[in-house]
Amino acid sequence: MRAETIALHGGFDADPTTKAVAVPIYQTVAYSFDSAEHGAALFNLEVDGFRYTRIGNPTTQVLETRMAQLEGGVDALCVSSGQAALHYAILAVTQVGRNIVSVPQLYGTTHTLFAHILPQLGIETRFAPDDRPASLAALIDENTRAVYCEMVGNPAGNVCDIEAMARVAHEAGVPLIVDNTVPTPILVRPIEYGADVVVHSLTKFLGGHGTTLGGVIIDSGRFPWQEHAARFPMLTTPDESYHGLVYTEHYGAKAYCGRCRSVFQRTMGSVLSPLSAWLLLQGIETVALRMERHVDNARRVAEFLRDDKRVASVSYAGFPDSPYYPLVQQYLKGKTCSLLTFAIRGGYDAGTRFYDALKLFKRLVNLGDAKSLACHPASTTHRQMSPEEQRRAGIGPETLRLSVGIEHIDDILADLDQALAAAVGPRL
Ligand SMILES: Cc1ncc(COP(=O)(O)O)c(C=O)c1O
Repeated sequence: MRAETIALHGGFDADPTTKAVAVPIYQTVAYSFDSAEHGAALFNLEVDGFRYTRIGNPTTQVLETRMAQLEGGVDALCVSSGQAALHYAILAVTQVGRNIVSVPQLYGTTHTLFAHILPQLGIETRFAPDDRPASLAALIDENTRAVYCEMVGNPAGNVCDIEAMARVAHEAGVPLIVDNTVPTPILVRPIEYGADVVVHSLTKFLGGHGTTLGGVIIDSGRFPWQEHAARFPMLTTPDESYHGLVYTEHYGAKAYCGRCRSVFQRTMGSVLSPLSAWLLLQGIETVALRMERHVDNARRVAEFLRDDKRVASVSYAGFPDSPYYPLVQQYLKGKTCSLLTFAIRGGYDAGTRFYDALKLFKRLVNLGDAKSLACHPASTTHRQMSPEEQRRAGIGPETLRLSVGIEHIDDILADLDQALAAAVGPRL
């Protein structure tokens, strides 16, 4: 099935007990056992079934199957936020004394996790100076356990050459983990280009309505853990925390996701509520349609800003003179995401006047809502970064980020025009 169809039908036909056609919300914590023997068999992973919603839930399972199908993976695990997803995705393959290698263009809190929190667990993050695959390759050593990037960086809008990055990672015998939040699987499926694990904040375009936090880890099922067994003993040798289970033996191609569920979700407890899973499923039904409109509107906004003398610069990968333009054609079907940054003449002060004058665009820190949103990254989402780290992440003190929504384009442009007039003066 194509993505548009999977978004509506993936993982669910009708409820097996009631024949309900809408996915039911299984708002339950636990599930009854037929007998002591049945309970033990469930805990021994000998039979399929649900035990406790911290480990699995039927509503959430539909979302997991749908996301795995949308990304072309073999399995998925939903958690309570995008941040939890990428945190678990990395913990699953690293240990104290190991490192990961990352691009510098990251969502601010991801950068904080990598630069400040993982080191407290003895895991180093090596940030490349830029997103060139060769820059990542230069930082890999025998203790590296993963290469990490955002398919399209938030807010830089850079597009990663993931095919080349996957080659770099695989030559070193480690997986490539890709955050695909900004483009969504509607624009690109990183697994097709060699990514081993895909993570998402479902909170953004997939949920699409700014109502619900959620995250997902998708396992491609392709990384040969067994071939690199010495590097990944947590997947290939008995796990004392789960009565000696060997994940690669028990789960086969789904070993990585199996461990994320059995170890991280079960013991650390980041759980998506069934109601949230249902709300996210509702959003996903229309993601393909919304993305089309987001992409079209963002192009019109980028062109409007580029042609306006009150605007100093626009960063938009869809312009032919952008260094990322060829990668938009290669990976994103020529469709540029609806996240873009720009700066207006008059620097930080004029930017603040513009921001305060917006009427339709919401002033907040989120992206991917159906509504148009505006954010000032340096003072909010990326505040914990040093000025140099911000510069490498594609942010200056004057940078404004727009997540262009699906309203009528005339209303979007009218709001930008009146805010520019308030900040700088009428259009020349
Ligand atoms: C690219 C990206 N990844 C991950 C996250 C974290 O997602 P959540 O807010 O669902 O934890 C965000 C949040 O803005 C993001 O933009």
